[in-house]
Parts: sequence; C-alpha cells; structure tokens
Amino acid sequence: MTKPIWIKHAAQVATLASDVKGPRSKAAMSDLGLIEDGSLWIEEGVIQAVGTTKEIEKRYGDKTKEAEIVNASGHLLTPGLVDPHTHVVFGGSRAREFEMRLEGATYMEIMNAGGGIHATTRMTRTASEEELIEQTMRRLDSFLAHGVTTIEGKSGYGMNLETELKQLRIMKKLKDKHVLEIVPTFMGAHAVPVEFKEREDEFVDHLIRDMLPAVAEEKLAEFNDVFCEKDVFTPEQSERILEAGKQYGLIPKIHADEIAPYGGAELAARTGAISAEHLLKASDEGIQAMAKAGTIACLLPATALYLREEAAQGRKMIDQGVPVAISTDCNPGSSPTTSMPLVMNLACISMRMTPAEALTAATYNAACAINREKQIGSLEVGKQADLVLWNVKNYQELQYLFGVNHVKSVWKKGVQVLT
Ligand code: NIG
Ligand code: FE
Repeated sequence: MTKPIWIKHAAQVATLASDVKGPRSKAAMSDLGLIEDGSLWIEEGVIQAVGTTKEIEKRYGDKTKEAEIVNASGHLLTPGLVDPHTHVVFGGSRAREFEMRLEGATYMEIMNAGGGIHATTRMTRTASEEELIEQTMRRLDSFLAHGVTTIEGKSGYGMNLETELKQLRIMKKLKDKHVLEIVPTFMGAHAVPVEFKEREDEFVDHLIRDMLPAVAEEKLAEFNDVFCEKDVFTPEQSERILEAGKQYGLIPKIHADEIAPYGGAELAARTGAISAEHLLKASDEGIQAMAKAGTIACLLPATALYLREEAAQGRKMIDQGVPVAISTDCNPGSSPTTSMPLVMNLACISMRMTPAEALTAATYNAACAINREKQIGSLEVGKQADLVLWNVKNYQELQYLFGVNHVKSVWKKGVQVLT
C-alpha cells in the first residue's frame, strides 16, 4: 500500500466533470467543473475524492495525517493533457525542407518530388529499432514536460509491412519503458509509397490483403487512419481501407480536407469515423454531416501555422454542434512540436475558441477522440490520477500567457513524474 496523496488548496481545479458523457460541443465545452480552493484525494493511482479543501478535510479527518500532502496554493490543477493525434515514431529530421518551404516550395510539391513523407519513410525504414526507440523516448519526455500524459501514435512512415509493424511494435514496447501512454493507430495509408507510384489501387489492395490482417493478428492498433487528399488517396480508396479495417475491429479516423476540399469530412461522417483530422478546407456540408453524426473534429492549429495556412474553422464547428478536440499532430514535416499548451494558445488565437473550450478540447474531448474518456480526460472519482499542476492561478491565464511552458508538476497514475 502506498500512502494516499492529498493535493490541497489549489487556487482552481478544472475538473472537467460534467453530466454530458461522450464528446462535448456547444455550451458543454465551456463547462470546466471549476472548484476554487480545491482538493484531490488519490489512492493507488486512482482519484478517490474531488472537492473543496474543506470538504476533503472533513471527509478524511484523521486519515489526512497519513497522507502525502501537496500544497497547491496559488496554482491551477487540471487533468493531464491528452494529445489525440501524433506521428511520434519516426527517423531523421526535415529541417532542410523547412528552409525550402520558406524559400517558396509547397508541402505537396516537396512530397510529390520524393521528399516530405517519403523522405521520413526512407529514414524510418533504415533506422534500427534501438535508434527509433531512443528518438521517440526523447519526444515522450518533451510531451510530459508540457503536461501531456497520454498520446495517440500513428504508424505510416513504413508503408510496407515490415516497417509498419516495426513502428507499431515500438509503441507497444514503449509501454514498459516510459510512463506516458501511447494509444496506437495503423496508418499504412499515409501516402502512396514510391514503389507503388501510379499503382495506387494495387497499394490499397496490398494494404487490405496483407497489412491489415497482420496488424490485427498481433493486436497492434485500435484505430485505422488514412490520408484522404487530392494526389494521395481518393475518398473511394479511403473508404475501402476504412471499411476493411472495421472488419478487424479497427475504428476509422481520417486525415481530411487538409490541403484542398475533397469530401473527407463527409466521408468521416458516412463511415462512422470517431474523428476527422485537420479539416482546414472542410465544406459547410461536411461540417453539418459531422455535427449530425457526432464525429469529433480533431483540429491541429500548429500544423496550419507551420504550413502558413488559414486555421480550421473551430469557432464555427463548435457553434454548429461539432465536438472539437485539438492536437499537436507532432510529426517531422508539418508540425514538429510536442507542445499541447502552445496548441491550446493557438486554438484561441487562430480559431477563436475560448480558453475554456481549448482546455476541454485538450483533455476530455481529446480523450473521447481516442476512446479513453472513461479512464482519463477529467478529474472524477474512479478515474486515473493523471494530473498537471500549473504555474498559473486559473485556466484563463493558462491560455492568455502564450508560448510559455507553465507546467509545474505532473502525475501519471498517481505517481509524480515531474516535480
Ligand atoms: O498530419 N498530412 C499528412 N500527414 C501528416 C504530415 C506528415 C509529414 O509531413 O511527415 C500530418 O500533417
Ligand atoms: Fe497527422
């Protein structure tokens, strides 16, 4: 038995507790379940009580003397941040492409000329497992330092059976090596690999026939994602891949309407995808279809900024009833960042989301986007004690003082992993 932990006198606790279970939109995204002078009681990694410091003191009485006490006075306490969309396992760097883009080349030009995703694929195919683990661990450390306690991770820099499995097996192995949890997604359809150039349908056949069964056989993924984009996979090819994945219990996700409007949002609604990602160019019809289907929009404002594109219409989506989550999209090309606090800032600045909506999008709704809202994403009795204590007094300050890492301490499953 480990000692109970009593975090007390937090200036503000944003519990994210609400009666709305499942993805939140509209006014439900503003309800942070705030408690002033708040307390949390944790035993064996699980939240046992949440309330004002007075309430918790009264409830636990003499037992408080045995607890490890954390005085959180002057600080905001929130759930650990959740990043529902990353490409965290990859080899190499694309710093030169960053320069090329600033000199005028576009993201798709670089990719179509064999760079971009193809360049990272070459570097990931040739990297040893040890190298990839070492590089990924450093990124996980950085996520943790920015208050993130769970991420989703995609394969997709293999695009052949061997390297797709290598990436997914690495995510599985990292369970024993790092406290941060990774929820795995198969994304063999990240691009058409160069060896299948102009034979896109054959690659789709190969992916469905050979890759999906192998991934399912080893239980290496929970979700199946595809880059549905002009010059990558058509909506028809994407639908085939996602429907085939469903046969193996893989839940669809879609990189949709990032570069050009292409019917990706509509496809996400139609196939029952848990989320559609990017959506910079999503059509009005697509947004309405997502609202109706309850598809989560996973918006990536750091990617839009990095590609010097107009951000997605987060404000409009929320107002129209689409549940919005936000994410870093951490990847070596379009968003080489591990900072969810920066992404929250950008959600406010470039998508006109309110500070409260941005926090919901980075915690509870993000947990919904990876099917984990019953375990994480809010501070409620029975949930995993994944928490962040911040060097600010309230949630507005967290979003207002931008571009700075305000993390003070982090707990994962009740263990303090950052002091
Ligand atoms: O989500 N858009 C496609 N995939 C990634 C970028 C991957 C890369 O450039 O390496 C994204 O932005
Ligand atoms: Fe992505």
